[in-house]
Amino acid sequence: MPPIDELIGQLDTIRQQAEQELTAADSAEKLEAFRIRYFGRASGVLTGLMKNLSALSPEDRAVFGKAANSTKQKLQDLLDQKAGTMGKGTAAPHTDAWQDITLPGRGIARGHIHPITRVLGEVVSIFSTMGFSIAEGPEIELDYYNFEALNMPGDHPARDMQDTFYLPGGFLLRTQTSPVQIRTMEKTPPPVSIIAPGRVFRRDWDLTHTPMFHQVEGLLVDRGISMTHLKGVLEAFLRAFFGMDTKIRFRPSYFPFTEPSTEVDIGCIFCKGKGCRVCKTSGWLEILGAGMVHPEVLKRVKYDTEVCTGFAFGIGIERLAMLKYNIGDLRMFFENDLRFLRQ
Ligand code: PHE
Repeated sequence: MPPIDELIGQLDTIRQQAEQELTAADSAEKLEAFRIRYFGRASGVLTGLMKNLSALSPEDRAVFGKAANSTKQKLQDLLDQKAGTMGKGTAAPHTDAWQDITLPGRGIARGHIHPITRVLGEVVSIFSTMGFSIAEGPEIELDYYNFEALNMPGDHPARDMQDTFYLPGGFLLRTQTSPVQIRTMEKTPPPVSIIAPGRVFRRDWDLTHTPMFHQVEGLLVDRGISMTHLKGVLEAFLRAFFGMDTKIRFRPSYFPFTEPSTEVDIGCIFCKGKGCRVCKTSGWLEILGAGMVHPEVLKRVKYDTEVCTGFAFGIGIERLAMLKYNIGDLRMFFENDLRFLRQ
C-alpha cells in the first residue's frame, strides 16, 4: 500500500477512536487527558502522525496535510463542545450546549399599588369602621348637582371657566365630590351617613394642583347632629391616619353649601409646628374643608330642616398622600414615572 493511503487509513482509525473516547469522557480530568493524548506537543498522537509529512512527495504531502488538518479541526471542535457543556456546573449536566439551565431566571417584575390608591383605601377603611357606607356618583355631572343644588348660584366664582371643565350639552366634569351629597339625599330619607371617594377635575397645573385629583366626601344627616359630632369624627379620622399625637385646628372658613364652615389644619408633621417651608412658617397644614350642611341644601332634597341637621366634609387625597409620603410635587403622582412608583 502506498504510504499516503496507509497514512490516511491511520488518520481515520485515530479519528474514530478519538470520537469514541470523547463521547465516553465524563469529567474535566478525562477531557484534559484526551487533549494531551491527541494534541500534546511532545507525544500527541496527531502530532506524531504529522511527523511523517516530510517523508512524502510534495503532492502526497498536500493531500495528507489537508486530511490531517481537517481531522484535527474536527476533533478540536468536538472537544470544545464537550468542554463547554461540562463547564456548566454540576447540578444538572445537560448535553445541549446552548442551554444553560443553571442561569438564574429573570425575575418577574412586581406591580405596586399606587400611593393614591393606598391612601384612598386607608381613608375609606377608617371611615368604614366608624360606620359610614360608601356612595358613588358620576364624574360627568350636571351643573345642577355640582353647583346649583349646592347653593352655588350662576354667578358664583367657583363656576368660573378658569376652574371648571365644561362639556357640551350642559354637562361638566365634577369639580368636587359634593354632588354625591345631593344624589344620595335625593334617593334616601334621613338618617344618612356616607363617604364618597372619587375623581374630581379642575383646570389647574402646578406644584400643588393637577387637573384631576381625588377627594373623599363625607356626609352625615340625622336628628340633633351638631358641630361637636363633626369635630369628633374628623379628629378620630386624623388621629387614625396621622397618629394619636397629631395636633388639630379648626379654622372658620366659607363654603356655599355649609354653614358654619370650617377648614381643618394639622400641626405640620415636617417641623412639628415650629414653622418650615412646607407649612409656609405657620406650623399648620390645611387638610380638609367641612361644615354643617346648609339648610338650603337640605330643603332642596326635601329634608325637614326642623327635624334634622347634618355635617359634611371633603378631604383632598393627594394632599394626604403628599404629607404621608413626603412628596414635594403633586404632579409626580400622575406622571407614571416607574422610579417614583417603585419606591
Ligand atoms: N367640596 C369642597 C371643596 O372641594 C370641600 C367641602 C366638602 C367643604 C364638604 C365642605 C363640605 O373644596
